[in-house]
Amino acid sequence: MTGQKRLFIKTYGCQMNVYDSERMAETLGAQGYTLTETADDADMVLLNTCHIREKAAEKVYSDLGRLKPLKARKPDLKIGVAGCVAQAEGAEIQRRMPLVDLVVGPQAYHRLPDMLARVDAGEKALDTDFPPEDKFDHLPKLRTRSAPSAFLTVQEGCDKFCAFCVVPYTRGAEVSRPVERLLSEARDLATRGVRDITLLGQNVNAYHGEGQGGTWGLGRLIREMAEIEGIARIRYTTSHPNDMDDDLIAAHGDCPALMPYLHLPVQSGSDRILKAMNRKHTADAYLRLIERIRAARPDIVLTSDFIVGFPGETDADFEATMDLVRQVGYGMAYSFKYSARPGTPAAEKTPVAPDIADARLQRLQALLTEQQRACQDAMVGREVGVLYEKPGRLPGQMSGKSDHLHAVHVEDPTGTPGELVRVRITAAAPNSLAGMRIVD
Ligand code: 5AD
Ligand code: SF4
Repeated sequence: MTGQKRLFIKTYGCQMNVYDSERMAETLGAQGYTLTETADDADMVLLNTCHIREKAAEKVYSDLGRLKPLKARKPDLKIGVAGCVAQAEGAEIQRRMPLVDLVVGPQAYHRLPDMLARVDAGEKALDTDFPPEDKFDHLPKLRTRSAPSAFLTVQEGCDKFCAFCVVPYTRGAEVSRPVERLLSEARDLATRGVRDITLLGQNVNAYHGEGQGGTWGLGRLIREMAEIEGIARIRYTTSHPNDMDDDLIAAHGDCPALMPYLHLPVQSGSDRILKAMNRKHTADAYLRLIERIRAARPDIVLTSDFIVGFPGETDADFEATMDLVRQVGYGMAYSFKYSARPGTPAAEKTPVAPDIADARLQRLQALLTEQQRACQDAMVGREVGVLYEKPGRLPGQMSGKSDHLHAVHVEDPTGTPGELVRVRITAAAPNSLAGMRIVD
């Protein structure tokens, strides 16, 4: 271990990348690196990248380009590319951008210390293996942050092969971490003051980890985790409709720690497009599933992802998506214009004209924004739990997240981060709610 060095990490993409960045920071912490807020004063810059759409992937190259003058000024600066672009493009990155010292895929970041040693010796390092060992077993258990909410990866990879998606290639096959390790990590988080855990996986509800008495599904894992003292809230993301089994649906009704919030992407409302996407379910099956989930937990807030302009999408297909959105009524949703990704089956097909896709995206987003607003407005007058995260922008205010994952500002001069309080919602703004603490 050498003296203090500074590490700047930029994270793109999904929550799993956020989690991975934290774990990489801990790994490099053991090598003497402390985090810094800007690339300018860093000894090492690590870009933890996303490959899901072309724009995200290309952003990495423009960011690397912007690091050139810094590297020219500080030749000792180390530059690393991690995450899904690293996995997908490997050596190509160093070929396009010779200033990159190190390329590390999402399954190999426990090997970062060895790779750094090679970089220190003047070599370039590349590791995009899917090693047989579990990277999580080889990472230091430092966990420096003590925020009241934390992510916990329970499952990685995907075997679904949706026709548009790079994830099965960048994150590999589905792997579930064993139950005991997850419970022990959750206990560890709880002792550090974490009260709210979001279980992460690219296909998290396909979780099937080894536990006592055999293989456990996600519902059982959640129920067991809910028993841990201090853990008051559990969520999970991101899910596939076909993996919502009976036990998990039941848990939404009978496990109070499982929050009334579910991200359940459907991508399209057209059966023809769902088939072409290889989603393996119909719009009607999704709607029936939503009915069952709502029967278990009537106040659940549902969110989704949508892709518009998938190859072959007609006006009628798009209208079917709009209809499905109207039928479900989402609390929030992400919508994207289809982006052809190299190596995926859909990339071979003729794309929808960009101006048509743009117009559809605009209409869909307008509808989703309207629904988001309606969902927030419907919260006014209701009593919800709020977990305080930090002081709000105004003096005497605390801000946190509601049970339904809405940002809430509460007038509470004596409130402290980590407190879980009851709040009466008094007003809704476009992106947040305001409320009064209920004191009993
Ligand atoms: N083009 C556009 N959006 C995509 N997504 C995944 N792959 C693509 C693609 N090729 C979206 C899906 C997914 C979310 C994480 O990103 O909606 O659910
Ligand atoms: Fe992006 Fe998917 Fe990788 Fe997350 S798993 S960083 S969304 S490509």
